[in-house]
Amino acid sequence: MFLTTMISSFLLPLAANAAIDNTQSVPQYTHVERNTLVPAGAVRYAPSIFPDRIVLVPAADAATAQGVSWRTDASVAHAVAEIAPALATPGLHYQSLAVQGKTMALSTSNGDAHHHHVTFSDLEPDTLYAYRVRGGSAQEGDAPAQVAWSEWFQFRTPTAEFSPYTAVYFGDAQNAVKSHFSRVIREAFRSAPEAMIMVHAGDLVNSRYGEHDDEWGEWFDAGGWLHGMVNQFAAPGNHEYIEHESGPRTIVPQWAAHFGVPKNGPEPLQSSVYYTDFQGVRYIALDSMQALQSEEYAILQADWLREVLRNNPNQWTIVSHHHPMFSVSLGRDNPPLRQHWQPIYEEFGVDLVLQGHDHTYGRGQNITEGTSGQLSAQGPMYVVSVAGPKMYLVTEQAEQQMQATAEELQLFQTLHFTANTLRYQARTVTGELFDAFDLSRDENGNVTVVDRGIDEASPLFMHRCTNPNKPRETRCWNGTEVIQP
Ligand SMILES: [Fe+2]
Repeated sequence: MFLTTMISSFLLPLAANAAIDNTQSVPQYTHVERNTLVPAGAVRYAPSIFPDRIVLVPAADAATAQGVSWRTDASVAHAVAEIAPALATPGLHYQSLAVQGKTMALSTSNGDAHHHHVTFSDLEPDTLYAYRVRGGSAQEGDAPAQVAWSEWFQFRTPTAEFSPYTAVYFGDAQNAVKSHFSRVIREAFRSAPEAMIMVHAGDLVNSRYGEHDDEWGEWFDAGGWLHGMVNQFAAPGNHEYIEHESGPRTIVPQWAAHFGVPKNGPEPLQSSVYYTDFQGVRYIALDSMQALQSEEYAILQADWLREVLRNNPNQWTIVSHHHPMFSVSLGRDNPPLRQHWQPIYEEFGVDLVLQGHDHTYGRGQNITEGTSGQLSAQGPMYVVSVAGPKMYLVTEQAEQQMQATAEELQLFQTLHFTANTLRYQARTVTGELFDAFDLSRDENGNVTVVDRGIDEASPLFMHRCTNPNKPRETRCWNGTEVIQP
């Protein structure tokens, strides 16, 4: 019975595919190029007076400040939010403080939007707060009681010094985000409901050729109210950059609109390069797209990074950027990152580097290079992962030299920090443990890796592509064909 279902689910799309090919001369692998669940011509994510896309964005010192961004239609002229100590009683509004912020206008195919950002400051560490954000009213001049507020969300500020907690990390969501990434972020929440921060290593959406606001609508839809209660720490990928006929790629306007990140990065990359100190862990976002399209920007980030790492009192240090230091997938390599950034990671003891882009899984400390076949140094642990449905194939080199690799698994990762151990686990979207290791630090600051990888007998071990209808020689799935096969 199960086998029959499996076979028919493979055959049906092929049959439908053939029909489309006959009528529209579309190559087989592009039989469905939709990237969202929004049919052509339909409007699903128009801004309104009701606040949406509400997202917690960490401030530089997360123990005492908290950023929040949201969207409304263009009738809402001001960014206003309220914050209160999170009482167990309903009278939050009696205790709340109104805070004003900044508003940015953005017109897309979904309409004219205002994106608002407020930073709550002077907060107490390790304290539970409740907040809400203000929308608009149906008619101009309506009484305040007619204004559309969001619901009350709550979040706990981090402790001022290190204390144990859990974070979550995702590789690329990118394609079919509502259809196929939503269950990943939701399973991650079920697996680690105590997580205080979620790291996204770029290509949150596919974009690349324009504004693609439906894709952003789907990204916020997939996470829903989670984004309003768990901090989201994102680094941009190449797909958050728009390709032009000439000249360098430029970052999509939604990036700055959605993520009001701390302005502690190097000019002019302050919307995409930044760090936050979050309960004794420093998270650093780098912009590998800018580094790869401009050596000047690779060096600019390197110089900034050196100073950020030199003055770092935190217990653990996590760096996230989109393009991998050591590529996992066929036909990919990013030498400028190894030239400009890798030596700094090693000099200053970065613990873990969280990456995406390759649409496979690969975990390793270093990859041998050149004819010597030597590791350049111990270095941090590098991870490439993927959360969405676009899937590529692992190279032989990565297979041989990385501690764990996989194809075709939708994954999320949990990081549990204690004073001396960082416990890392990669799990499939179905909740199964796929890969794990501990980084253990001794009293001299030396870090050792304890491999906790899964048993070779597991069907997940070195999982490889099973799609009988591979779209290309280097790909297992495009990620778009899964929307409506
Ligand atoms: Fe990418």
